[in-house]
Amino acid sequence: MQSRSTEIARGSEKSDDGLAVVSGSSSGIGREIAGALARRGYRTVLIARRGEVLRELARDLSRHAPSTPVALDLSDGGALDSMLPRVLDGVGPVDVLVNAAGQGSYKPFLECTPDEHQRMMQVHYGAAAAMIRAVLPSMLARGSGHVINIGSISAKMGPWGHSGYAAAKAALTSLTETLAAEHLGSGVHFSIVQPGFVDTPFFNGPSLRLLRAQNERRMIAPARVACRALRVLDHPRLQLCVPRSYRVVDLIAALSPALLHRLVAVRSRPASGSLTDTQDGAASVGLPSQQPERIASIGAPRHGDQKPVEQHGRR
Ligand SMILES: NC(=O)c1ccc[n+]([C@@H]2O[C@H](COP(=O)([O-])OP(=O)(O)OC[C@H]3O[C@@H](n4cnc5c(N)ncnc54)[C@H](OP(=O)(O)O)[C@@H]3O)[C@@H](O)[C@H]2O)c1
Repeated sequence: MQSRSTEIARGSEKSDDGLAVVSGSSSGIGREIAGALARRGYRTVLIARRGEVLRELARDLSRHAPSTPVALDLSDGGALDSMLPRVLDGVGPVDVLVNAAGQGSYKPFLECTPDEHQRMMQVHYGAAAAMIRAVLPSMLARGSGHVINIGSISAKMGPWGHSGYAAAKAALTSLTETLAAEHLGSGVHFSIVQPGFVDTPFFNGPSLRLLRAQNERRMIAPARVACRALRVLDHPRLQLCVPRSYRVVDLIAALSPALLHRLVAVRSRPASGSLTDTQDGAASVGLPSQQPERIASIGAPRHGDQKPVEQHGRR
């Protein structure tokens, strides 16, 4: 039986032939979003590094509406700057921009090289900003359009081992908020989607598979994120957590930022001997699954919490 989120993502067919650009569409959340947009009738431009995967997806999505694959490494700011105008010239004005490309890391700040840190900022924040800069003038001129940025719940928390990732997502969140303020009433909308723990190839790799296994019950399907994210097209909204239960983070922060910090600092550490790498802080924080009585005991470290192991390994 189809899940409710899949049904909704496949529903709401639209007959218009708007244009949507989706970065990170070769996999996971971005792929689900691109598929749902195509089924709504949007022409799509698919951006990621793996050209062959994109070409195959574009062939599939073209059954609904024309789809253009663009193989591009968003960590290369120069390539992005030179290629983006050409791509956009060829496809026409963009109605929906979704910035979903990204990858993570889970290791202490001093173990990240400046290059790794910079790459994280570039892919999650710099590239998204460049894409917005390229499409926004035309959206403003037409008085319509929507920019959907895929952030992360980790941007609200500053979890262990996520200096580059959470900082980049926090920058993306701030940019989204500022743009929404600057263009209030313009007809152009901005949304930041903050997923928790999503079952995608984001967590591939030996150690991340272990983390996925440890957090299986917290995993949500990427289709659920796509479904929630695309609802903002009909009902514009600046910020949304997926799942909604992560709103408890805002609640705890409002009651006591120190409490949230301690909870996150303790709970986001890897359990010694069982965890060597993860790519999203929300994964190991586990707030939504906490019962109220457990939230009261947040200061208590988990077994092995005090001995974080060295983190290595990337997808
Ligand atoms: N999974 C989670 O638990 C989770 C939680 C919160 C937020 N998020 C965010 O959700 C977004 C999508 O992640 P996902 O879970 O769907 O992961 P995913 O399945 O690994 O997809 C990541 C996408 O980003 C693309 N990408 C990565 N680096 C790129 C680069 N340098 N240039 C161009 N494209 C690049 C990948 O394509 P190529 O490999 O083909 O380049 C892929 O299409 C990310 O921004 C991530 O931070 C994920």
